[in-house]
Amino acid sequence: MFWKKDPSVVWERKNIDDIDFSRLNVAIIGGTGGIGRAISRELAQRNASVVVVGQTFKDEEMKDKIKFIKADLSLVSECKRISHCDEIPYEKLTHLIFTTGIFASRQRQATSEGLEKDMAVSYLSRYIIFHDVAKRLGIARAKKDNLPKVFIAGFPGNGQVGDPNNLNSDEKKYNAYTTHMNTVAANESLVLDAKDRYANIDTFGLNPGLIKTSIRSNLLGSDSYLGRITEWIISWTCQSAEVYAKTICALMMSPAIESRSGTMFSNKGDAILPTPGLTKDVVEKFMESSELLVEKALQNQSSSTSSNE
Ligand SMILES: NC(=O)c1ccc[n+]([C@@H]2O[C@H](COP(=O)([O-])OP(=O)(O)OC[C@H]3O[C@@H](n4cnc5c(N)ncnc54)[C@H](OP(=O)(O)O)[C@@H]3O)[C@@H](O)[C@H]2O)c1
Repeated sequence: MFWKKDPSVVWERKNIDDIDFSRLNVAIIGGTGGIGRAISRELAQRNASVVVVGQTFKDEEMKDKIKFIKADLSLVSECKRISHCDEIPYEKLTHLIFTTGIFASRQRQATSEGLEKDMAVSYLSRYIIFHDVAKRLGIARAKKDNLPKVFIAGFPGNGQVGDPNNLNSDEKKYNAYTTHMNTVAANESLVLDAKDRYANIDTFGLNPGLIKTSIRSNLLGSDSYLGRITEWIISWTCQSAEVYAKTICALMMSPAIESRSGTMFSNKGDAILPTPGLTKDVVEKFMESSELLVEKALQNQSSSTSSNE
């Protein structure tokens, strides 16, 4: 990993068993798998109120503690439904966490709204939901001594500047790695933009490093030999999602991150510096291109609806 530590943000690592999570009200978009699921289980076991959004709920035995909302977040229409869903108490939330993700496949995949699938799931879904709910996030939370907090998982601080002019991977020859790294740069830009855009929210980037999950299955195949050996190596050389989740849950509650919006955190929870090439101009360009892409998807959706009528 190539990130550099940010010495200006240091937090005390408290034992997670000594932290009271009972006043937390958390929504985890992408909380049905991998890292998001591990965080949701950790928080729910510690009496936080937890809502997860994803495709398939795998924690039936915890359904009295974790509320599940099903959605296909590759679709802009579905993201809009989720950002206006009454079952997610955005006004009361203390924390909103984004862990939705896939890895771009070898051949470009497009959604029915004409979006490259990795960009749609791993970045644009976050852009849409975050921007739609930001003004009302946490305004009715029980205790107002801390700002509501948004955590955006990705791969920040690793030097990826992406290409905001090719957000849909349709302007240049398609490459899965380049496409995924564009989602990485876009997510880091989302954090850097939110720091200035939303004074009412603290927004943070999370870089989990490598963790054994399902994230690479869209690229390597869910049951291929390469996929299995890759995840096996990662499981032996890197921390588990459950260990990482404990670090992130403790980090979420640390007073040291209060008003430190825009900070990124490494796999060990250390504050790290943002990618130097993501200047204000580049970040603005990512936000402009995101808005245009959302409009394009909505247009594609309405023209396909009217042609079906
Ligand atoms: N694991 C790593 O090595 C690694 C490394 C660097 C960064 N990250 C980042 O960490 C974050 C979490 O990744 P992960 O490793 O936990 O991945 P994961 O195990 O594949 O989980 C991804 C989550 O996204 C959801 N999701 C995927 N497609 C969706 C769709 N169309 N609609 C709704 N939800 C959808 C999944 O829901 P279902 O399971 O219900 O389909 C799941 O909850 C991502 O931002 C990833 O880029 C991970």
